[in-house]
Amino acid sequence: MINQEDSGPCQTAIALARTAAATLAASGNPLAHRDADLLLAHILSIEPAAIPLFTAAVSNDQKIRFQTMVDRRLTGEPVAYIIGEQGFWSLDFYVNEHTLIPRPDTELLVEVGLKSIANLARPTVMDLGCGSGCILLSILSEHVGASGVGADISAAALDVALRNASRHSLVARTDFVESNWFSNIKKGVRFNLIVSNPPYIPAGDIAQLMDDVRDFEPTSALDGGADGLDCYHAISLQALGYLAKNGCLAFEVGVDQSAPVCALMEALGYREIEVYRDLSGIDRAIVGKKPQES
Ligand SMILES: C[S@@+](CC[C@H](N)C(=O)[O-])C[C@H]1O[C@@H](n2cnc3c(N)ncnc32)[C@H](O)[C@@H]1O
Repeated sequence: MINQEDSGPCQTAIALARTAAATLAASGNPLAHRDADLLLAHILSIEPAAIPLFTAAVSNDQKIRFQTMVDRRLTGEPVAYIIGEQGFWSLDFYVNEHTLIPRPDTELLVEVGLKSIANLARPTVMDLGCGSGCILLSILSEHVGASGVGADISAAALDVALRNASRHSLVARTDFVESNWFSNIKKGVRFNLIVSNPPYIPAGDIAQLMDDVRDFEPTSALDGGADGLDCYHAISLQALGYLAKNGCLAFEVGVDQSAPVCALMEALGYREIEVYRDLSGIDRAIVGKKPQES
């Protein structure tokens, strides 16, 4: 709770943010200042860095809404769900409890995917398990000739992806399909790039995830089966029937998963397999080309 002594009518934005940060820090939140700033900046429709410069009065309504958000954060709910959006690549994406919150690590998959279609004028892209649509829409925002399909097993996630396509004026170049991987994707359609950041947490590790991930993010976006690799097996195999000649399959992988995922792609005949590391030096993205047709 925000200390009532500090919540008088003349309280400045910076004072409100500091009081909330102290409350969040006392609850054990290591990013209390960042979180308090993000929540207040959202309410005031300003950038977090502008909070110290915000001299206008904060209305009672704004204070009450801020208090409610801080209370939600105290329960462990991630900031992105509270404010309903998350920055990713160069765009802001709507998110809710049905979508994974886009992670900075996943921007590598966008970069690698863009590299694979850079020489094509009108590439087609498929994002399997698109969630908020962040990967597909970021790729289409950079490559103006590209069009794509986002597929997800969650209709509720697809609603969010469609809202994001609309937010970024990309509806004309996108299609969203409720599908269990390729189950509802028309036979005969070919993609120059298939990207996926599938669920890859081994089922037995989910209980040990950070509270805000385990308790708030959808399990269907996290659970990769007993060894975390179930989705890679299914997608690598099915993608063979949907890749265009010289088309690429690009995955995000979890820690220690690059060797087994490379091995299963090699076993299926994928060529020129490359592994890319994230900024922490962890193998994070894998790309392979469709096997040569005989
Ligand atoms: C790790 S999340 C990735 C979401 C988004 N692409 C991102 O990177 O933020 C995995 C997504 O795969 C979806 N998913 C899980 N199983 C699926 C399946 N069998 N077919 C299609 N999508 C599936 C989940 O609903 C979730 O949206």
